[in-house]
Parts: sequence; C-alpha cells; structure tokens
Amino acid sequence: MDQLQLVASTAFGLESVVSRELQELGYEPLGREDGRILFEGPPSAICRTNMWLRSCDRIGLVIGNFTARDFDELFDQIAELPWEEWIGVDDQFPVTANVVRSSIRSAVNTQKMVKRAIVERLRKKYTRHWFQESGAEYRVNCDILRDDVLLTIDTTGPGLHKRGYRRDAGEAPLRETLAAALVQLSYWQPGRFLIDPFCGSGTIPIEAAMMGRKLAPGRNRVFTAMDWRNISQDLWKEAQTEARDLALPKLPGQVSGSDIDKRAITQAWRNANDAGVGGDLQFSVRDFVEMPSNRDYGIMIANPPYGERMGDRDTVRKMHQDMGELYSMLDTWSYYVLTSAPFFEKQFGRHADRRRKLFNGQIECTYYQYLGPRPPEDFDHEDESGSSDDEAAS
Ligand SMILES: C[S@@+](CC[C@H](N)C(=O)[O-])C[C@H]1O[C@@H](n2cnc3c(N)ncnc32)[C@H](O)[C@@H]1O
Repeated sequence: MDQLQLVASTAFGLESVVSRELQELGYEPLGREDGRILFEGPPSAICRTNMWLRSCDRIGLVIGNFTARDFDELFDQIAELPWEEWIGVDDQFPVTANVVRSSIRSAVNTQKMVKRAIVERLRKKYTRHWFQESGAEYRVNCDILRDDVLLTIDTTGPGLHKRGYRRDAGEAPLRETLAAALVQLSYWQPGRFLIDPFCGSGTIPIEAAMMGRKLAPGRNRVFTAMDWRNISQDLWKEAQTEARDLALPKLPGQVSGSDIDKRAITQAWRNANDAGVGGDLQFSVRDFVEMPSNRDYGIMIANPPYGERMGDRDTVRKMHQDMGELYSMLDTWSYYVLTSAPFFEKQFGRHADRRRKLFNGQIECTYYQYLGPRPPEDFDHEDESGSSDDEAAS
C-alpha cells in the first residue's frame, strides 16, 4: 500500500484551484475533469488532504476505474476488485451511485448492482453469507460518466465545507469552500488590506484570515477515515501536529467585513470567534457606499445580493451602479465580485479583466475580476493599516 490512487472532488469551476492546492501540499495532479482531480499519494495523503484542502468537497480512495456498458460488465469487474483490502468483515459499506450520459441509465439499479457485486466478493473472501455491517464506515461511490466507471470509497464523511465554525449562517451564506476559492482566485496575500463590504455571516473574511494564519481548515473536525484500520492513528496525529506547527499566531495586515445588517455582523463575529480568528478581523455595520477609501492597493471581494434570492432587480442595478462609481475612484485597488445578476458589467460600468463561471449551490454565477496595479516592492501595508476607520472589535 505504498501509493494510493485518490480523487479530490470539487464544485464545477474550481478544479484549477484545488489542483494548485494539491501541488502546494506536494501531490502532483494526474488528471483533471469536471469536478474531480486524480492524484496519488501515500496513506498519509488521506490525512493531509482532508486536513488542509480549502476548496475541495471530499477525498475519495480509488478502488477501480474501467469501462462498462451493461450491468453484467459492471458486476463482473466490481467483483474482481480487492474490496477486502479495505472493508473488514464487520464494516459498513453503504453504496451511492451517479450515472450521467451512459449506456447504463438507472442510478438506483446501479447502486443495487454495486452492492451485490461487493457482497459477492466479500462472501468468497470471508466465507460468510451475512454481513452485519456494524463496524467502521466505508461509503462506496460509483460514478458512471459516458460509460467510464469510477469506484471510490469516501474518506471524508460530512463535506469539507463543514469546518465547524458556522453556527449561524445568515440569509444567503456562501459555502466555506467557495469563499476560500474566491480568496485564492484573487491576488490577495496576507499583509494586504482586504475587505468584503457585503460580508453577511463573514465567510470570505474568515476564510481569508484562516488562510493568512495558515490554519488548517480541518484541524478541529473528524473524518470518516479516522476509523479505518489501514490508516494508522499515528498518521492522523502527524497531520494534526503539522497543522499545529504551521499555524501563525497572528494575521499580518488587516482583513475586514461590513454589512448593512446588524444581525449579520453579530453572526460574523460569532463565527469568526468559533473559527479562532475573531482577534484577526474587524467587522462593522455599514452601507457599502461608506466603505473606507483612504488606502491604496486594497482588495475587495464581495458576494452582493443577486436580486434572485434577496433584494429586487432595481435595487441591485442601483447597487451595481454605485459600486462602479465608488471603485472608479479607487484606482490602485483590485476588486472581485461574485454574482448571478445579468448585466453586471454594464451596470458597474466596466468590463472585467477576467471572468470565471462558478456555481453558488445551484445558482450559476460569474466571478468578475478587476485587477489593479501591483503594489510597489517598498509599499508598507502595515503602515497603511494605522489609518483604519473601521470599528474596533466587538
Ligand atoms: C449574498 S449575502 C452575502 C453572504 C455572505 N457572503 C456570507 O457568506 O454570509 C449579501 C449581503 O449583502 C448585504 N447587503 C445588502 N445591501 C447592502 C448594502 N447596501 N450595503 C452593505 N451590505 C448590504 C445583506 O445584508 C447580505 O448580508
């Protein structure tokens, strides 16, 4: 079991972000397709990727990858795979199936067929007829896309966006994994001033602060594979020690969030404190038009109301026009806006330098990226932070 085949699943549009994260952890992506990145690593990679990846949904252990055009082909090939190397005689192995654009059409029948084929294999290996399935969980996923079958066992459990800090979600919160991706897709570096003037429950500033302090997003949670006998407890302890050793005590520079809704700011404070970054952030109740503009080379990342779920179209149009006016005065700034609202660029008054299609849940959005000039080498961000007009910590 030197090298394992693994797959990182992510939301559509974030594959390059997760590939870069994998490389930074020392794992070379082997292939990338819609929503998933294949890579290899030793057993410790299961612990480290679950612990550190910020924009990934889950990590799967690849057990088989083959072509099947009917249920006979599917059954025979699944029954050939070495399931017993992972699933013990008492373990649970629930199955889920997804079938897209394939000769096999029914996900329900696929799920039943996969279960039967694994049972068949394990019966032979363990000489048992009945499995109680009371032990550790090995959730099997069968994804069939254009007749290409990928069989994985989920190592993660509840999705990686469940960092454990969000008790209060606000009205239209971003997934933590998407918020982390928005920050990673900007040119923000710790030390540089960052603001989210529509911060709601604070997800973007909180994810930025966790990134800036090198806090592993999974450091406080449990993963399914923690119960697996093949992944030694020492490997999990090593990953936790690495996370503790790399964490910085303080965030350089200033990261802040503001929102017009007082309740949202109360939630943002609570979430930031639970995430362990309350002391690194500033939050204030404020209309975005009053955003502080007395700095240079700031970065604004925002997820304003779309006019679909919150607010109406006219309010949102006016908001885009006001944003355009405000940012036209901040000519050293870079700004990034995630919205599904049609005609954003027209209303904002400027074409974006880059656009990226992303999904906020089921809502198709565009991430508009306006890239300002790079700060000069000798620019002192810390010095600038002395001129803060944000509210102090609550
Ligand atoms: C889509 S939500 C942002 C959600 C946030 N990213 C999160 O993860 O919780 C949009 C936010 O914009 C805020 N908002 C609406 N109009 C505003 C204005 N004029 N100035 C500042 N905030 C405003 C709303 O209160 C809401 O919290």
